[in-house]
Amino acid sequence: MSCFRFPVVLAAVAMALIGAAGGVGAAHAADAAAGKQVFHSQCAICHSDKAGVNKIGPSLFGVVGRHTGSEKGYDYSVANKNANLVWTPDVLDKYLANPQKVVPGTKMPYGGLHNATKRQNLIGFLETLK
Ligand code: HEC
Repeated sequence: MSCFRFPVVLAAVAMALIGAAGGVGAAHAADAAAGKQVFHSQCAICHSDKAGVNKIGPSLFGVVGRHTGSEKGYDYSVANKNANLVWTPDVLDKYLANPQKVVPGTKMPYGGLHNATKRQNLIGFLETLK
């Protein structure tokens, strides 16, 4: 039976580590490096992180603190153009969780990023784009 014990102990240690990391995670600063990976897997297909480069969506360079619908040369939907919001980390957090809820009628074809830690890290990365 002893051969079964080792994996069980390892699993318990792993669970404890995950638990501890999860517990303090919420209070920790965003991990911009992890957020960069989220950006590349979830956003980069439609958004550039370079100034002035619009793709399917507007460039996200300098997006934090920017007014909705203000990226030059990008053809926004009426909904996004007239949303009259400032992209603060808080507004971005709500928007990225559910774009249609914050900007009803947006043409951004993205259902939302439901993992709060990933959103926090992603916004941490967006804050570096300036
Ligand atoms: C499939 C394409 C697509 C994906 C994926 C996508 N977006 Fe968008 N995004 C758009 C489009 C198109 C718009 C313009 C919306 C409009 O005009 O209604 C937009 C608009 C935005 C805006 C508003 C910008 C402004 O200047 O007002 C933000 C912020 C944004 N996206 C962030 C993100 C982030 C962060 C991700 C990754 C989690 C993401 N988007 C994923 C296509 C996409």
